[in-house]
Amino acid sequence: MTHELEHQPTVLVLDFGAQYAQLIARRVREARVYSEIVPYDISADEIARRKPAALVLSGGPASVYAEGAPHMDPRILELGIPILGFCYGIQEMALHLGGDIPRTDIGEYGFAELEVLEPECQLLEGLPKTSQVWMSHRDSVGTAPTGFTVTARTATTAIAAMEDSSRKLYATQFHPEVAHTQFGQEIIKHFLHDIAEIPAMWTMVNIIDEAVDRIREQVGTDHVICGLSGGVDSSVVAALLHRAVGDQLTCVFVDHGMLRLDEAEQVIHVFRDTFRVDLVHVQAEDRYLSLLAGVTDPEQKRRIIGEEFWKVFFDEAEKLKGVRWLAQGTLYPDVIESGSKHAAKIKSHHNLIPFPEGVHFDLIEPLKTLFKDEVRAVGAELGLPDEIVHRQPFPGPGLAVRIIGEITHEKLETLRRADAIVREEIGNWDLNREVWQYFAVLPDIRSVGVMGDERTYGHPIIIRAVASADAMTADWARLPHDLLAKMSNRIINEVEGINRVAYDITSKPPGTIEWE
Ligand code: XMP
Repeated sequence: MTHELEHQPTVLVLDFGAQYAQLIARRVREARVYSEIVPYDISADEIARRKPAALVLSGGPASVYAEGAPHMDPRILELGIPILGFCYGIQEMALHLGGDIPRTDIGEYGFAELEVLEPECQLLEGLPKTSQVWMSHRDSVGTAPTGFTVTARTATTAIAAMEDSSRKLYATQFHPEVAHTQFGQEIIKHFLHDIAEIPAMWTMVNIIDEAVDRIREQVGTDHVICGLSGGVDSSVVAALLHRAVGDQLTCVFVDHGMLRLDEAEQVIHVFRDTFRVDLVHVQAEDRYLSLLAGVTDPEQKRRIIGEEFWKVFFDEAEKLKGVRWLAQGTLYPDVIESGSKHAAKIKSHHNLIPFPEGVHFDLIEPLKTLFKDEVRAVGAELGLPDEIVHRQPFPGPGLAVRIIGEITHEKLETLRRADAIVREEIGNWDLNREVWQYFAVLPDIRSVGVMGDERTYGHPIIIRAVASADAMTADWARLPHDLLAKMSNRIINEVEGINRVAYDITSKPPGTIEWE
């Protein structure tokens, strides 16, 4: 899939697997240069056609000699495009240009001290004689290819960096993209701006201006519809479309009654009162609760909620007549064609829209070139409030996945109040940006307690708070005991029917973040 933006010089990151390519692409963008990830086996012809301003070869988990190891089209190295290779990337370069990669079985993992050998070199120009870098490799280059100068080493790796400035080829065995490498971002910026001479044009203002131009071009005078959930992605899509096409946009907010305290009001306030978006607010709690009556199976609950969402949404869309476009908050990580088959993760389940018979919309996905941190920055620049821009992840089915057993209005009210206390107290301790997710869960059990002179038989609330980078793995957050004590006290005193509070100390795996 090609997304290149017309007016932006583009850096292509060849993805040799594992998690490195996305990180590199983000670092390049932090240097204000637009970047995209492409599979490692992209052909030299395709690269030449796309005319990138530079290439970066990512690291990867394989050994260059392993059977089935990913290899690039070696003709790419002859195109005259500035190329920077990291880790596996340096080995690919050495392999195809006649260097030698002996099998030593001596790997190097973690911190290492880099010693610059050639102060006159280009890539490491300006670095101190020694600095800290991050290594993660088993093989390493033994002899650099003809034409290359070895520019740095570590105690275990004789060729920690090499370059052939006449061919504009540069490579490091260490990982400049990880934060542990002391001057990593400086190296990347120096390569992009000074060596490849790419201007820093990928700025927030530019991103928004280009997106607005593209939307206007695509949509023309047509009408667009957008589903609002109150989450970051749909909110930013709505704000961006509103900036681009104003009242050609209608937003439909399907309020299933399972949002957190005050969230529905906030969505309405921000979009209707502040942005003056044409907003249809569908209050559908009763409709949802009657469908969910007696349902306890988590998968069935999810299915009912998901299907009903689209029914309600399309009912509203039909009433609007003459709408051609449906806007969606698809992000770049959802559409990357990964270099490694294992990491291939087109998140179609988030994006498959079951159009009913006879209904069709063209999709418009104005965020599909952006990473999440860029989406938040765009949202902030467009004037969305902090509570929306920095909102913690919240599942589409909302509090339904945090009520175990049957969902009722009373249980939703109870959970909403407990959850609001958890959020308020985390905020009071200034931990909202540090903890990935924090919320309350209402399980389907009751236990005995005592309040005043009376015996109680009430529900517990479980507090869940996790540290995570991407929700794939997570650890339970080590919240201060005093904070937990405060939450517990307040929940028991302020939320009727709750007589006990527990804290979930399970990591993921083996647990999941949500209960269900
Ligand atoms: P689990 O519970 O599987 O959750 O560890 C991983 C992350 O995904 C979020 N989540 C969802 N997000 N729609 C979403 O957009 C959903 O249906 C959904 N279910 C779980 C969850 O909050 C966590 O961040």
